[in-house]
Amino acid sequence: MTSQVRGAQLARLLGHWHALPGRRRSPDYAALAAAVRGLLADGRLPLGVRLPAERELAEALRISRTTVTAAYRQLRETGHLASRRGAGSWTMLPGTHRVASTGLWTPLDDQDMIDLGVAALAAPPQLVPAARAATEDLPRYLNGAGYHPTGIIELREAVARSYTDRGLPTSAEQIMVTSGTQHALDLVLRLALAPGGSVLVESPTYPNALAAFAARRARIATHGLAADGLGWDPDLLLGSIRQTRPKLAYLIPDFQNPTGHLMPADLREQTVAAAHAAGTDLVVDESFVDLPLDGTPMPPPVAAYDRHSRVISIGGMSKPFWGGLRIGWVRASAPQVQRLAAARVGVDMASPVLDQLVAVHLLADAPAIVAARRAQLAAQRDALLDALDARLPDWRVTVPPGGVTLWAELDGPISSALARAAEDVGVRLAPGPRFGLDGTLERFLRLPFTLPAAELVEAVSRLAAVRYDLDRSARRQWREATVIA
Ligand SMILES: Cc1ncc(COP(=O)(O)O)c(C=O)c1O
Repeated sequence: MTSQVRGAQLARLLGHWHALPGRRRSPDYAALAAAVRGLLADGRLPLGVRLPAERELAEALRISRTTVTAAYRQLRETGHLASRRGAGSWTMLPGTHRVASTGLWTPLDDQDMIDLGVAALAAPPQLVPAARAATEDLPRYLNGAGYHPTGIIELREAVARSYTDRGLPTSAEQIMVTSGTQHALDLVLRLALAPGGSVLVESPTYPNALAAFAARRARIATHGLAADGLGWDPDLLLGSIRQTRPKLAYLIPDFQNPTGHLMPADLREQTVAAAHAAGTDLVVDESFVDLPLDGTPMPPPVAAYDRHSRVISIGGMSKPFWGGLRIGWVRASAPQVQRLAAARVGVDMASPVLDQLVAVHLLADAPAIVAARRAQLAAQRDALLDALDARLPDWRVTVPPGGVTLWAELDGPISSALARAAEDVGVRLAPGPRFGLDGTLERFLRLPFTLPAAELVEAVSRLAAVRYDLDRSARRQWREATVIA
């Protein structure tokens, strides 16, 4: 979207704004303002764009200009719009909001909000002891300048060991430490994708990866995943690599975000072979690889099938440990790591030494920490599934064998409307279209099971109430006009 949204475009985005839940008691201008806030909240309407003039929007929506004037006034009062006489009105968010990992904006001060927009756990209890131990180690580094573009050697060694333990012999020279997996992706794209280059991604996929591709102005093609079964369709996936020969393919084979699918070994092998034949680099995001649940056996890493340095693996500490650490990494060939380090000098130079030392201590304790995380996630997932089964039995869910999210198929194309309505009852959602490119996926909703079970159950109960309201407000649209005679 450009920096200005025209009346007809906004009208299309607003859809059936006048028939949304919560409408029964509110006047038109308040419903319109609420619908605009909803679009901002789920990222469909970006921040900093100029809204159409009042008259233009009134015409596009076929409502009176007074209604639009009052809606804009309310949006200004709630901090969602900034206006300057003669210059127009821009979208914004109130000062007390922050960006969640999904790109959604969430208020900091809303204690009662159950945030299902973020798929990440709170920190484990071992974090504070690890941080204390790291400060004891710090003096060893204080005599140097502290810039380590590929990371401190002890962390690179620890990460390399974890790959070797997974059956993929890896040396420290093949590891570059980054400030999170997202940073790893951004650096890899700088190296491997010229602006405007072609990328193949799964659909649905991780929204912030799409944002990274958009930043490179990539031409994006999608491979659609099935909600159930295997997820990937081997013929279609291999066929589109062979036919479209993208410069790069981005895959999340281990408990894919958002669907939770796990790619089987044979498809991993075939994908690497097809990528090699097509001249495609594979970027494999292993964010969730440590989180198989129910003892699910793990297939070999995708890079285990790579003999031509076609596969770049990225991963990090955020999902098994804590997102606030901001520690991730790239596993590639040693020359690629050197090129990444050279690119990084123009970006952020290096990651903080102290944080890397914390990561070293956490990795030393990984078996105990990760085992506890898996048990916690399995219990929370089951509580969520039970609640959905009891309160929203028409939604179809496949039990994810790992990771932190499930991908629910709803009983209609209602994901965005549901997310807007849920906000009013204190549940923040990431609706299906956030995980795709073109506003589709309205029949789907990602539900993370990273919050405590009681909060998940409460969230489902609020969603069930809102779902019921959606039906009732939808029915109102079809009411026959009454004749007065
Ligand atoms: C698939 C995937 N990649 C990358 C990230 C970002 O991870 P990090 O916090 O390590 O930057 C996430 C976080 O949700 C993710 O789900």
